[in-house]
Amino acid sequence: MCGIVAYIGRRAARPILTEGLKRLEYRGYDSAGFAVIEDGRLLVCRAAGRIAALEEKVGQRLGKATVGMAHTRWATHGAATESNAHPHCDHTGRLALVHNGIIENHRVLARFLEGHGIHMQTETDTEVLANLISHFYDGKLEDAVRQALREVRGTFGIAVIHADEPDVIVAARRGSPLIIGVGDDEYIIASDAAAIVQHTPQVIYLSDNEVATVYRDRFHTTTLNADVVNKPVEEIEWTLEQLELGGHQHFMSKEIFEQPEALRTALRGRIDLDDGRVVLGGLNEVARELSRAKRIIITACGTAWHAGLVGEYLIEDLARVPCEVEYGSEFRYRNPVIDNGTVVIAISQSGETIDTLAALREAKEKGALALGIVNAVGSTIARETDAGVYLHVGPEIGVASTKAFVGQVAVLSLLAAFLGRRRHMSHASCREYLEHLSRMPEAIARTLELSNKARQLTARFVESNNWLYLGRGLQYPIALEGALKLKEISYIHAEGLPAAEMKHGPIALISEGMPVVVIAPRDHLYDKVISNIEQVRSRGGHVIAVATEGDEQITRLAEDVLYVPDVPPALQPLVTVIPLQLLAYHAAVLRGCDVDKPRNLAKSVTVE
Ligand code: G6P
Repeated sequence: MCGIVAYIGRRAARPILTEGLKRLEYRGYDSAGFAVIEDGRLLVCRAAGRIAALEEKVGQRLGKATVGMAHTRWATHGAATESNAHPHCDHTGRLALVHNGIIENHRVLARFLEGHGIHMQTETDTEVLANLISHFYDGKLEDAVRQALREVRGTFGIAVIHADEPDVIVAARRGSPLIIGVGDDEYIIASDAAAIVQHTPQVIYLSDNEVATVYRDRFHTTTLNADVVNKPVEEIEWTLEQLELGGHQHFMSKEIFEQPEALRTALRGRIDLDDGRVVLGGLNEVARELSRAKRIIITACGTAWHAGLVGEYLIEDLARVPCEVEYGSEFRYRNPVIDNGTVVIAISQSGETIDTLAALREAKEKGALALGIVNAVGSTIARETDAGVYLHVGPEIGVASTKAFVGQVAVLSLLAAFLGRRRHMSHASCREYLEHLSRMPEAIARTLELSNKARQLTARFVESNNWLYLGRGLQYPIALEGALKLKEISYIHAEGLPAAEMKHGPIALISEGMPVVVIAPRDHLYDKVISNIEQVRSRGGHVIAVATEGDEQITRLAEDVLYVPDVPPALQPLVTVIPLQLLAYHAAVLRGCDVDKPRNLAKSVTVE
């Protein structure tokens, strides 16, 4: 949440910062700002609104500086105004700070500073931190940052510059990611690899409570207590090409259409058909403990939580291990029972979602084996888990998650078979399942051919402000996901329900012509779902069914049908979710919404 990029080197900082901000805009985009040091002076420019507004305001200025930083904000404390935008300065106007995260004790600290005659100008917690560092400043920024951060409760990823020390940037983190790109006589500090990858693949991942002091030609890292830490330089996996639009109008459509390839890479090297088994290198060291698990708890947020629900069905069905799924935000405060044999799996695209991370820490604290299913390599969740599996679906930029969901379901399908085979699945049945799984990229590619039909269909309902999504069994999480996609990007109210629950309340909502999407592929619940469709029809609802190719019966009941390929029931979520993503995407485009940057949402939610 919020994006930070900072540069120190021999090139002009401004274009690098602008470019970096644009790549980070998906993390937050309600206001933005720059701070640079030019001729020994600190220059700051901020603007409410998108980065384009900031660019316009800066005009030709700030062109000479070779050190500076920038921020794109997603408001948490104070409205999205220019004065609340980052960077924030101290009261002397010599120090500037960009910050991701929340300073929980900012009120106490503000009172302390007021006692020293320093009064805050904005409503932000960040301004307090800028002034706290300034309060401790005695000619050495690095020391002042460390001293101030020792007083702070909460989370931070920060970069700080001071006009008195024009050749250094000090960065630090706790809870909010921060990465340092290592170039030739230059460094790019950013909250996300997306702002670094076009300059260098070499990076250092800062860990919690570490401070980096970065000069043009060298850097060093320490703890908050000034102990030196040696950080390894690692390589970023993602390429620049993966981060660009590639002819698509939006990242979301690019990512929807990338799903066959994303699935292929997520499965690559992980299916051994000869031996009828799954190869998950990241779980090797914990395989014995995992296969003896008595209970699995999956914890996640948003779309990843929906993927977790699919995982619950698969793990119980294929591996016969009791499994439950819990929101990270609930799990962390619930005092959960974790006994011997409980395995906790955190699912997160970004690997930075604070609620999921806190749930993971709670699970570890209570002694659980903690695993991660994560997309962003080197992210905090990936590093804090005992073991895990990466999605390998490439960067996901659109705020509404699509290909990461498919990657998460794919990894959970692999994990269910990995466990199943070690517990009771036969060689033959595991092999058959994996054969089908390895053919899913083609099935998804065929499903994507529904895009035009989905657009035409959506055009007829684009004015409807209420939609229902119904599904049973494995399709229940897909109903939730379909409704979430529609809400997130088109701002149409939608509810996802287990189809049979509809009659316990939501059925009262159904009125003439209301679009009701029913996910009804051929499976053991098909007849039950057909009864639910009849209940909708008899109340005047307009049924849009997602059904299996060749199913003629459904055309007698549903006004519209989106056909998906015939695949085994356990793998159906991977195809049934596709038309729902397409419906949501086209609805958002037709309603003129900002598809990749929906209002009020951010890609990576690093605040509670
Ligand atoms: C945000 C995003 C969602 C995402 C959720 C969890 O709310 O808008 O698309 O599903 O965070 O994110 P994660 O990175 O943990 O998967």
